[in-house]
Amino acid sequence: MTETRSVLFVCLGNICRSPMAEGALRAAAAQRGVAVTAASAGTGAWHIGEAPDPRAQATAAAHGVDLSQLAARQVTAADFDRFDLIVAMDSENLSALQRLAPAEARARVSLLLDFVPGRAGQSVGDPYYGGPAGFDRVWADVTEGAAGLLDALDRDAG
Ligand code: 4NP
Repeated sequence: MTETRSVLFVCLGNICRSPMAEGALRAAAAQRGVAVTAASAGTGAWHIGEAPDPRAQATAAAHGVDLSQLAARQVTAADFDRFDLIVAMDSENLSALQRLAPAEARARVSLLLDFVPGRAGQSVGDPYYGGPAGFDRVWADVTEGAAGLLDALDRDAG
C-alpha cells in the first residue's frame, strides 16, 4: 500500500476550471481504483463560497460528474503544507502560486498540462467570458490532465 496522495487544483476564480479538474481527477481515480484526495481553490477572492459556474456544472454532469456540492475558496500559504501537489491551470495561476509559496513547502507546484506528454507548459484556457465550447475544451483538457497526473503518481509509487 502506498499512502494517499493529495492534489489541490488552482485557477483564478475556483468556479470553472479547477472544480472541473477536481471532479475529473476524482472520477478518473475512482475508475482506476486509486486513492487520491482532490480539492480546488482560486487565486482570486471574488467567488468565495459560491458553487461552480452553472456551465461548468452542466459540462461535468454531461460526463457523469457532480460538482454541485463544491464551494469556492481562495488558496492560502498553508495549502503548501497540506497538499503533496498544487496544480495550476494556467501560467498566471502558476506565477501567483510561486509568489505565495513559503520558502520551505511540502507541495510540488506545476501546471496541469505538464502531466500530459507533448503539452508541457501549456495552459487550460479561461472559459469564463466565452461560450459553451470553451467548457467542452476545458473538460477535454482536465480529463487528459487527470489521466496524465494519475500516470505520474503511478510511476512515483513504482
Ligand atoms: P476560473 O474562471 O478561473 O476557471 O474559475 C473564472 C471565473 C471567474 C472569473 C474569471 C475566471 N472572474 O473574473 O470573475
